[in-house]
Amino acid sequence: MLLAIFLLPMTGYISTGFATADEQAQHTNPRADYWRQVRDNTNGYSAVKGRETNELIQGSGETWRQLRNGPVALIGSGLLIFTLAVLTVFYVWRGKVELTHPRTGKTIERWTLNERRLHWVTAGLFVILTVTGLSLLYGRAVLIPLFGHHGFAAYADLAKWFHNILGPLFMIGLILMIVNWASLNLFNRIDLEWFKQYGGMVGDSHPSAEKLNAGEKLFFWCLVFAGIFLCLSGLVLDFPNFNQERELIQLSHLIHVVTAIGLIAFSLGHIYIATIGTEGALEGMVTGQVDTAWAEQHHDLWAKEVMNKEPDSH
Ligand code: HEM
Repeated sequence: MLLAIFLLPMTGYISTGFATADEQAQHTNPRADYWRQVRDNTNGYSAVKGRETNELIQGSGETWRQLRNGPVALIGSGLLIFTLAVLTVFYVWRGKVELTHPRTGKTIERWTLNERRLHWVTAGLFVILTVTGLSLLYGRAVLIPLFGHHGFAAYADLAKWFHNILGPLFMIGLILMIVNWASLNLFNRIDLEWFKQYGGMVGDSHPSAEKLNAGEKLFFWCLVFAGIFLCLSGLVLDFPNFNQERELIQLSHLIHVVTAIGLIAFSLGHIYIATIGTEGALEGMVTGQVDTAWAEQHHDLWAKEVMNKEPDSH
């Protein structure tokens, strides 16, 4: 009797359990398999003819979104902040590399007018592309709180337009730099010695250098190789009318962002050395002329060669 009292309610529980499972089975979304197939990139049928028109949801779009907004954006901002921090600490520790001998007042030509035009136009384009590009990557997080949604929308529209138009122009500058300066940037034994002495940035040594030292050559080749990846991926994004599919566009976008951030970090180092890092370096790229004391300290082999050719420097 006692046992029946305990068991009777249990039958109730068991029957309710079965009923719930049954009900659940009846309520399972009958279209679940259909949506699973859609997410698996299974192509369906569409009467509309064209690229990917039979693909209802593009599965890899979500992977791209997560990579772009996650590790790429995070590591990218980390790298840029880290580079700025290292340059600041280095400047505080080392200070400006000053001229060790007084200026002679005599100058020699370092960069011709056309070379300077090429440098500043390409560098100017690079800076605008950096600002607009970073605005597109980080704008939602950084600029919306500052400008508001409407302000940011108007700015982002303009930034994207500038970025799309100026990208191919930068590519032309890069090609001209390769044509004009590649031969000056070939590595040789002198560069090995320069690297061993950390380019004179650490300690008081003055390693020998030709017109361009090993550090400048390294920057040049990074610019060339990263620049090629940057420009080719940029073209895929800029001209989506060549039948490329979204997966290629997403891959190109990730390559574009990663190479751009690497190159921006390298360029920060270049800008640091060329401005506050080294006394007298900027003069050459602004006026075309450098003092012979600067030339002998930083590029002794080149200075000797030029001064032997034209003993009457200005
Ligand atoms: C905007 C700030 C920049 C400043 C102040 C600056 C300054 C300079 C200076 C002073 C030189 C001459 C160095 C020497 O005489 O030894 C130079 C060379 C050079 N710069 Fe810049 N630069 C800037 C940005 C850029 C950017 C963004 C690029 C890349 C697009 C670039 C590419 C080069 C190249 C290729 C050289 C020739 C040296 C070599 O072949 O490595 N510069 N720059």
